[in-house]
Amino acid sequence: MADFKGKHILTGKQFTREEIERILQVAENFKEELKSRPSLDLTRGQILATLFFEPSTRTRLSFESAMLRLGGSVIGFAEASTSSTAKGESLEDTILTVCQYADVIAMRHPQMGSAEKAAKVSTVPILNGGDGAGQHPTQALLDMLTIKTEKGKIDGMTVSLVGDLKHGRTVHALVELLKHYKVNLIFVAPEELRMPQEITESMKSYSVPTKETDSLSSALKESDVVYMTRVQKERFADPAQYEKLKGAFILTRALVDKAKPGLTIMHPLPRVTEITTDVDSYEGAAYFRQVKNGLYVRMALIALVLGKV
Ligand code: NCD
Repeated sequence: MADFKGKHILTGKQFTREEIERILQVAENFKEELKSRPSLDLTRGQILATLFFEPSTRTRLSFESAMLRLGGSVIGFAEASTSSTAKGESLEDTILTVCQYADVIAMRHPQMGSAEKAAKVSTVPILNGGDGAGQHPTQALLDMLTIKTEKGKIDGMTVSLVGDLKHGRTVHALVELLKHYKVNLIFVAPEELRMPQEITESMKSYSVPTKETDSLSSALKESDVVYMTRVQKERFADPAQYEKLKGAFILTRALVDKAKPGLTIMHPLPRVTEITTDVDSYEGAAYFRQVKNGLYVRMALIALVLGKV
């Protein structure tokens, strides 16, 4: 059986199908257990540190909530400007310090590759909560749990990924998990925001049927799941380019009504304009249920790397 004790969670590329299924199963067990009590007693006395060098609502709070519901404690900062980073301390020195205080570290950083960099010096597991435009594996795992829960399975699904596929770390990580399943992928992006070639090549090498288009309405006609994403403003050097592309794809109720029946709609959030609020009452709008799955998956990851399951 997959053993995660002491391991870092850095990228969607690191998992086998068996490992993905193990994590989802542990997450589902925690979901069940939380139905009868608000928290468990698995990680009492242990400490999670959350080091967030970039804005976050869901990732940080769900990691913290996850550790508290497992029975552990949390320390950390939500803003690099209040840590010694503002005095010029390197990421490595920050990590070497924090692993003297904590048993596991969840971090987010604007630089691609920063989680690997942290893992190189850390004596405790690093959970990557997003490294620039790189990877976001814990989000990808909660997205997999959401597809599984909403659809009852992952194999056989046609999944459209829409929006900023160039900079979006959530989609970069998610396709690395989906490639282990029998899925069809549709990448919907404007020319400027297409999926990086390295990733389309990786899908090819796993023989994942993949299409690229700039038509959301045509993709919706054949999709079981649509995964909307925000145009990643903070990754643009030229604000005019962002302004031009920010409204590239907007999912409205009118579009949903013409989509393949039973469509499941996901979004890692935050949404800006990608999904109009009249979609929220549609029964397949899963994005806030997706948020809840983040809690269970992060409980599973913390418990697994601490060797508690
Ligand atoms: C995403 C992120 O930070 O990459 N948010 C999240 O973790 N749920 C998506 C985004 O910011 O657009």
